[in-house]
Amino acid sequence: MSAGRIVRSRVARAREFLLRKLLSDLGYSLLARETTPSAIVRYLDQYVVGQDEAKKILAVAVYSHYRKIATFANDQGAIVKSNVLLVGPSGTGKTLLCDTLSRMLGVPFVTADATSLAQTKYVNEEIEAALLRLLDRADGNVEKAQHGIIFIDEIDKLKATGGESRAISGESVQHALLKIMEGSSVKLRDDRYLDTSNILFICGGAFVGLENIMSRTHGFGFIATSSDDNRNILDRLNKRVKPTDLFEFGLIPEFTGRLPVVATLHSLTRAMLVSIMSVPKNSIYRQYIEIFRGEGVELSIEQRVFEQIAEIAIEYKTGARSLRGIFEELITPILYVVPDRPEICKVEIHSLFEDARFFRRK
Ligand SMILES: Nc1ncnc2c1ncn2[C@@H]1O[C@H](COP(=O)(O)OP(=O)(O)O)[C@@H](O)[C@H]1O
Ligand SMILES: [Mg+2]
Repeated sequence: MSAGRIVRSRVARAREFLLRKLLSDLGYSLLARETTPSAIVRYLDQYVVGQDEAKKILAVAVYSHYRKIATFANDQGAIVKSNVLLVGPSGTGKTLLCDTLSRMLGVPFVTADATSLAQTKYVNEEIEAALLRLLDRADGNVEKAQHGIIFIDEIDKLKATGGESRAISGESVQHALLKIMEGSSVKLRDDRYLDTSNILFICGGAFVGLENIMSRTHGFGFIATSSDDNRNILDRLNKRVKPTDLFEFGLIPEFTGRLPVVATLHSLTRAMLVSIMSVPKNSIYRQYIEIFRGEGVELSIEQRVFEQIAEIAIEYKTGARSLRGIFEELITPILYVVPDRPEICKVEIHSLFEDARFFRRK
């Protein structure tokens, strides 16, 4: 090899190295280096009670998505995506998890509601509107928007059923969503194009009835075993939501195929409901403590009250959703009088079924 050639090949290699580094930096800059899966979980823990398994799965999915982009950006074309499906009863934190996640990650993030997609005749326009919002969150930067996250809530409402009475069948919405999940170049109103190949999709839904399907179709349990380890593996396999379960539920196979990562959220226990009201940074109790403090009043609610509220919430069967309503019913009459009575310095609530105690300034 001549000297000239050696130099040229070195230059070419150096250029290639720089290009790779540039693209890889792009991937890393999308998600800060310190944003490790455990850091994501620690952040989520501040706002979302329980659901540890779903938090981990979600954190790893997001992390690996951006690392894949960082590592394979130079290979041209799309990465193999691992979109996530969150399955769990109503009011257990699916939407909250995604909202919290979006606040933490510095990437563009939008939520689209599958129910409203199913109620419009103009599905593609709605999808386009969601992409435009994503672009907006990315400050108009197409490159950044193309690496954002789209959360599609209430995805189970798109189940294919016979005799649709809605404006459009759930199945056709699934097909429309499938296109952008697979990755396509979508022309926006402003004549720009947005390539969805590297956008991460998170879908969420309650999937009422899925458990029945799973209990019917999961047949791993027949292997008799005495070992606890094997038992655990079997339990894990049995608990896993399979694509065929989702298919039976009413999602088309192509669609379930695009959601390889499934995280299950569980019903909240009474203790968790109690925690939700008082522990998270922005919990309802803490919010009202601040409101009362603004009036110069100390608010004190006994643990027992939260337990009583949790008990009622369990009866309502809407997860944590009813907590706020019950809590506010309790607090409204008190907050109605307190601002007019500057002599009050403290309010104590001992039971949901007893009047609050007011204390006067001395
Ligand atoms: N695991 C949880 N931790 C803290 N709050 C929760 C949790 N689950 C539900 N909540 C509360 O209930 C409300 C409804 O929860 P959401 O996330 O919308 O439920 P869904 O699972 O139906 O999407 C939230 O705004 C939040 O206040
Ligand atoms: Mg929700």
